Amino acid sequence: MLKKFTHGTIERNVILLSVLTLITVSIGGLAQIVPLFTVESTIERVQGVRPYTPLELMGRNIYVREGCYACHSQMVRPFRDENERYGHYSLAAESMYDRPFQWGSKRTGPDLARVGGRYSDDWQAAHLRAPRDLVPDTVMPAYAFLDRPLDYSGIEAHLRAQRALGVPYSEEMVANARADLEAQARPDMDASGFSSRYARARQAAFDGNPQRVTEMDALVAYLQMLGTLVDFRDVTPEQLRQQ
Ligand code: HEC
Repeated sequence: MLKKFTHGTIERNVILLSVLTLITVSIGGLAQIVPLFTVESTIERVQGVRPYTPLELMGRNIYVREGCYACHSQMVRPFRDENERYGHYSLAAESMYDRPFQWGSKRTGPDLARVGGRYSDDWQAAHLRAPRDLVPDTVMPAYAFLDRPLDYSGIEAHLRAQRALGVPYSEEMVANARADLEAQARPDMDASGFSSRYARARQAAFDGNPQRVTEMDALVAYLQMLGTLVDFRDVTPEQLRQQ
């Protein structure tokens, strides 16, 4: 009986073929999916990558809310033309705390993965308010309404939710979320605690007005940090090869 159990047997029995196919596909699926539940160990850690500051996180939410990803990607591919235009290709670690990631699939406008620091805060805010004032034939819509106050009443819960998904926000970061958010957008406030919690985070009046915290502050703070966390002089070739 066993001798007759050949490939032919499987091919002639639809049910047996289906069951065995399902088992084989499941094994392949598990091998791909299961490691992703342990992001911390799956993705090679790269020095400099940190969770978003509360203000950047709110800015990221606005980016998603406004559908910026419909026209902009955030993923520099490892091709020479892209690296010459946008800079070093994106590393997996650079979007390990993005939930959901913003790689995008459409580039009506340029890739934004490394736009941080490319322009001044004033340029970013003016461009968002009226893109055509700066780039006369752009098709990017105007977002002048972002000059309204930012609603960050749920920021602590928001950080906690991110933590439940694996982003390493400490208890101290959650407890100070509101203060850190305000300190980053208002240069008149003391930022020593904030700077010790978030490395390489800049305090500025991102929208040009140091007195209030607006949606514009959040979005510009987010755009200005994109692609700036990893100092590529610090990254060893071994770390890059494993990406
Ligand atoms: C309809 C498509 C479209 C949408 C939606 C859109 N953009 Fe753009 N964006 C463009 C185009 C085209 C350009 C290039 C011309 C220019 O600078 O305006 C651009 C340029 C930019 C630049 C300058 C990038 C560089 O390297 O020069 C930034 C920053 C930017 N967009 C941010 C955003 C943000 C943030 C949003 C969402 C609030 C957004 N865009 C929504 C089309 C779009």
